[in-house]
Amino acid sequence: MSTSTKPVLVFLMLLGWSYCQPSLFLHDSPSDSSKKCRYMDLPLLDLELDQGSSYNPPQHELQNTSRLLQLLGERNFDFEYMRITRPKKKRLPVDLKLRGEIPEDIQSQNLRRMPDGTNTRVGPHSRKRFRRWLWARTHCPVRQSWKNLGKRFWPRWLKVGDCYQGQNSCSIPSGLTCLPSESTTKNVLFWACIEDRLDRKMLCRWIYVPYPIITECSCGGNCAK
Ligand SMILES: *[C@@H]1O[C@H](CO)[C@@H](O)[C@H](O)[C@H]1NC(C)=O
Repeated sequence: MSTSTKPVLVFLMLLGWSYCQPSLFLHDSPSDSSKKCRYMDLPLLDLELDQGSSYNPPQHELQNTSRLLQLLGERNFDFEYMRITRPKKKRLPVDLKLRGEIPEDIQSQNLRRMPDGTNTRVGPHSRKRFRRWLWARTHCPVRQSWKNLGKRFWPRWLKVGDCYQGQNSCSIPSGLTCLPSESTTKNVLFWACIEDRLDRKMLCRWIYVPYPIITECSCGGNCAK
């Protein structure tokens, strides 16, 4: 193994890269009904980078922004999600609006019959309103905020998401909570160091790390349906 690949591995192990196994993002195959519940372990726990300042990038490594941008690759720098300097507001307002089509599992609810089979006498207008209420009641918005990744990352601020818990539970009957259901990955730079034991020198360089960000939440995660 060459020294240049080592820091990458060390870092990925630190991050517990099993978090991001692609299988987490796949949909259920019909033959796979036993594995109905899959939770994504997002957001990532903060790294305990308690390694001392010798692991931080020296000042001159941070001065040339165009060089860092070149290292990251300009197309990887997503201004929607990334900032080099501290953004004005840490938390962004939660968007509670219901968008798109009413979810299939709510639309397909039969609201015309009581459990005992008698007619509910609920008209189409009321059924529609009740479906909207169910949707709002079980909706799980994403709350976005700017996260300071720390001195060893560039860019240093990343817009991350977490699942907004509006009420105690998002399900009826209650019991389920809002959990991550979809994510995207942004590449950032990380100053990775290994200590060369022989001549007690620190070998450091910028490496790419994929950073997963929650983009959608649902009631019970992928578990509810
Ligand atoms: C910054 O980096 C770029 C690209 O590597 C280089 O061309 C430029 O000379 C550097 N500027 C300074 C002030 O070092």
